[in-house]
Amino acid sequence: MTTTADQSLWLAALGTPRPPLTGEHTYDVAVVGGGITGLTTALLLKRRGLSVVVLEADRVASGVSGNNTAKVTALQSTVYSQIRRTHGLAAATDYATASQAAVAQVADLVKLEGIECDLRRAPAVTYAYTESEVQDVDHELITARQVGLPVRASVDVDLPFEVHAAIRLDDQIALHPVKYLQGLANAVDGGGSRVCEHSRVIDVTGTRASTEDGHVNASQIVIATHFPTLDRGLYFARMELTRAYCIAARVSRPPESLAISTGSPSWSVAAHGDKLILAGQSHPTGKPAVEPFRRLEDFARRHWQVEEITHRWSAQDPTSYDHLPMIGSYTPGSDTLFTATGYMKWGLTSGTFAASLLADLVTSKPNDLAERFSPHRLSLKSLPELVKKNAEVAVEFVGDRVIPADATSSENLPPDHAHVIRDGLGKTGVYRDADGQLHAVSLRCTHLGCLVRFNAAERSWDCPCHGSRFDIDGEVLEGPATKPLPKRDPR
Ligand SMILES: Cc1cc2nc3c(=O)[nH]c(=O)nc-3n(C[C@H](O)[C@H](O)[C@H](O)COP(=O)(O)OP(=O)(O)OC[C@H]3O[C@@H](n4cnc5c(N)ncnc54)[C@H](O)[C@@H]3O)c2cc1C
Ligand code: FES
Repeated sequence: MTTTADQSLWLAALGTPRPPLTGEHTYDVAVVGGGITGLTTALLLKRRGLSVVVLEADRVASGVSGNNTAKVTALQSTVYSQIRRTHGLAAATDYATASQAAVAQVADLVKLEGIECDLRRAPAVTYAYTESEVQDVDHELITARQVGLPVRASVDVDLPFEVHAAIRLDDQIALHPVKYLQGLANAVDGGGSRVCEHSRVIDVTGTRASTEDGHVNASQIVIATHFPTLDRGLYFARMELTRAYCIAARVSRPPESLAISTGSPSWSVAAHGDKLILAGQSHPTGKPAVEPFRRLEDFARRHWQVEEITHRWSAQDPTSYDHLPMIGSYTPGSDTLFTATGYMKWGLTSGTFAASLLADLVTSKPNDLAERFSPHRLSLKSLPELVKKNAEVAVEFVGDRVIPADATSSENLPPDHAHVIRDGLGKTGVYRDADGQLHAVSLRCTHLGCLVRFNAAERSWDCPCHGSRFDIDGEVLEGPATKPLPKRDPR
């Protein structure tokens, strides 16, 4: 699970677990990861007559796909202005075409497979919450029109505050993401294909994937683990993880629109039933978050009649250094190992078009978008950003100076607080839980050795270098790290 806060609105629908993989098996394709990317890819491949196994470390949809705001839309804040700036109009047009096809594909799969996931059609809106955001909204409107989206300008939005400018794209989708993914998993299971839960892949050698209890020999493998977890391809050096926070609140008049403001902070609004969903307070993983849930609650109470805050959750998503998803062969030239990542918090849409592209690549079907989204493209325009990002990471590697020890003992550490102490082995992070129990771990990230920081909103230790996260006892919550932080004696 990616969140240790009060659980996402969606995860209660996880249902009965599916059996894990045991023993030796052969399938045409092994898909590692049961999120939107993995399950959609598996279903599309099964529909082409291949036998597929999905190996999910935890529960299907327990990753970011079950911890989001559940908008499936081709209008995505100011994404088209950003892609146009970095790659030009043709790339922005490709992204728009793929996104529109993905929205249609989700609706098609729901219909074809009879998936009950509370799907409703709704307008998506990009809006200016302040005057200073108007220019960005205007610019996005122009670009969105140029890339072929049937958008219109309208400040007539069902939000209970003044909106200074807004773009609207009708007929997008809101759904229950866990119910949708469970439906995809049901459609994959059977007829020679299978979905296995609690089946973490710990090794991929050639086209053989191994878990603790079983092995799969396949002709091809798709790594759909959100952050590509295999220690090849250097994905960690080309992406940045940002974390964001969500609350659900029971309100008397939840909005119909799927809205997001363009500024910083950005306020993302959606609804499910009688609940308002509010998201925002993004920050690079491992950097401090200042009371993100309280800020979201304050915003909700300022603008809606809130009866009760029912859920709090958070998640993170990678953005590639050149702001386009990476979809294709895992390493240059490979035709047996594939991956998809870098969805910039819009992966319900882009994970769906990634699946179409992956299905084509696996079955050697030509696809015009293959080069555009290849993980191995080189964006010269974005190179300075890549260099800057890795220079910042280099500073974190000399971590001892970055995080000073703030105590010599934990005697006076209050409940539900953490601090850093220095011992003979280096820096130790100590957290005292609500029952007074101390939990101590090494602060040295097991991925490449940066020092992790405490995230008070999630009670986790988060790495500022490539976004790995660990719980208070050091267990891995999110990769690229695969090994826990060593435990230390609390002092
Ligand atoms: C706060 C927030 C809100 C968002 N809201 C939206 C939204 O409204 N609309 C939208 O389009 N996008 C949204 N997104 C983004 C979207 O949710 C993600 O981009 C998308 O769900 C990623 O899907 P995935 O399949 O790549 O990853 P995941 O859903 O994380 O799936 C990967 C799976 O792989 C499994 N796994 C990992 N390692 C292994 C292993 N070794 N072996 C086996 N399995 C493994 C994990 O357990 C996980 O289940 C949001 C993101 C955030 C952070
Ligand atoms: S995630 Fe790479 S060093 Fe921590």
